Amino acid sequence: MAHFNLPEGFLLGSASAALQVEGGDRNNNWYDWCRKGHIKDGSDISRACDHYNRYREDIELMSSMGMRIYRMGVEWARIEPNRGVFDGEAIAHYRDELSALRERGIEPLLTLHHFGNPMWFEEMGGFTHPDAVDIFLEYVDTVVRALCDLCSEYITINEPNVYTLNGYFYGTWPPGHKSLSEYRRVLAAFTAAHVRSYGLIHAIRMERGYTDTRVSFALHARVFAPKSRKNPFHILSARLISELFQDAVTRSMLLGKCGAVIPRLPGVKRGLYCDFHALNYYSRSTVSGLSDGVAAGVPVNDLGWEIYPHGIVECAQTLCDLAELPVYVTENGACDNTDAYRARFIFDHLKEMTESGLPFVRYYHWSFTDNFEWLEGESGRFGLVHIDYETQERRIKKSGEFYAAMAAEGGVSDELYEKYCSAPYNVK
Ligand code: BGC
Repeated sequence: MAHFNLPEGFLLGSASAALQVEGGDRNNNWYDWCRKGHIKDGSDISRACDHYNRYREDIELMSSMGMRIYRMGVEWARIEPNRGVFDGEAIAHYRDELSALRERGIEPLLTLHHFGNPMWFEEMGGFTHPDAVDIFLEYVDTVVRALCDLCSEYITINEPNVYTLNGYFYGTWPPGHKSLSEYRRVLAAFTAAHVRSYGLIHAIRMERGYTDTRVSFALHARVFAPKSRKNPFHILSARLISELFQDAVTRSMLLGKCGAVIPRLPGVKRGLYCDFHALNYYSRSTVSGLSDGVAAGVPVNDLGWEIYPHGIVECAQTLCDLAELPVYVTENGACDNTDAYRARFIFDHLKEMTESGLPFVRYYHWSFTDNFEWLEGESGRFGLVHIDYETQERRIKKSGEFYAAMAAEGGVSDELYEKYCSAPYNVK
């Protein structure tokens, strides 16, 4: 028997990022990266899903699928196209989008930075520049003052660890650097940017009399498992990689605890800088040396990432051990280009969550629609809703039908499971 009920008050919805869905903007680091020929299928982020123009249609669709929450982004490059120049039209656009969500009874969670920088900021060195944190804070100040009556929940920085690892260690994402010192500097800047934004957002909303403000950063967390549980080198490598990839950044951004990996910048004191844990969980890595891999014989998604549902509980437990806060799963999903097993993926993760006894309160599926999947371009499909990029037509996938039925029923019955979730996974 495969079924579960969602706990009382648990909310379902989906997540996206401004650059990945909006289309139209060419003043950002990712458009530049596309132009330089780094995207595997040659597609270009300035097309994406045209969500900037079609957000009303998208919100209608979301609402028809029973979604109650939506994690959306605002794009810095649109709001501050030149340094210190803020675009009133872009801000008005986001006010409209937030209002449209609220009219449909969908609670927004707003991401302020999701891998995208305006070109002027990128060209001055991005978050390695000594003034980067102050500059970011001016942007946050403007956005939050303009939108705070329509939105009470914020993600400051999305996945500081993924941005920094790919952009400054592997050099596969913009700006394409490979420098340990820059890697550490950017993480230090993100820590200061988050800690100071946390205080600022609370202060701005408090001044206006709002007492329901909630702020966090979104952590990309993985399980790092030693290939052999008896091999001390594998065990040590798994711990080291976890420390470098996620544990140090969690301690610094959640608790202001900097150290050997992430230096302390002014304004960062020890404290508690999140009102909830924002967990982005996708996969487990199997470690046998100083890089991560995927074990043989395990279920994998279309990008070869292991599907390991219990990991969502392991990662949430690690966060809850550091601070007792409610857990929002702010991203979880699979690149499943033919929508063969996405419903089962969702079922397996939500079942783990509901049986864990941990304070999971929200699930934002990644993603609402297919969208521009960074280096994979338009070819990596994560959506509950299919996008035809040529016509921009939206079509709810089978997994989307499943999601809507689960939202309507408040859980998954044996019948629903049989109908949608019994497909096998691909195995590596
Ligand atoms: C990111 C998303 C991305 C997703 C799937 C996360 O790391 O926040 O932007 O599309 O994973 O790769």
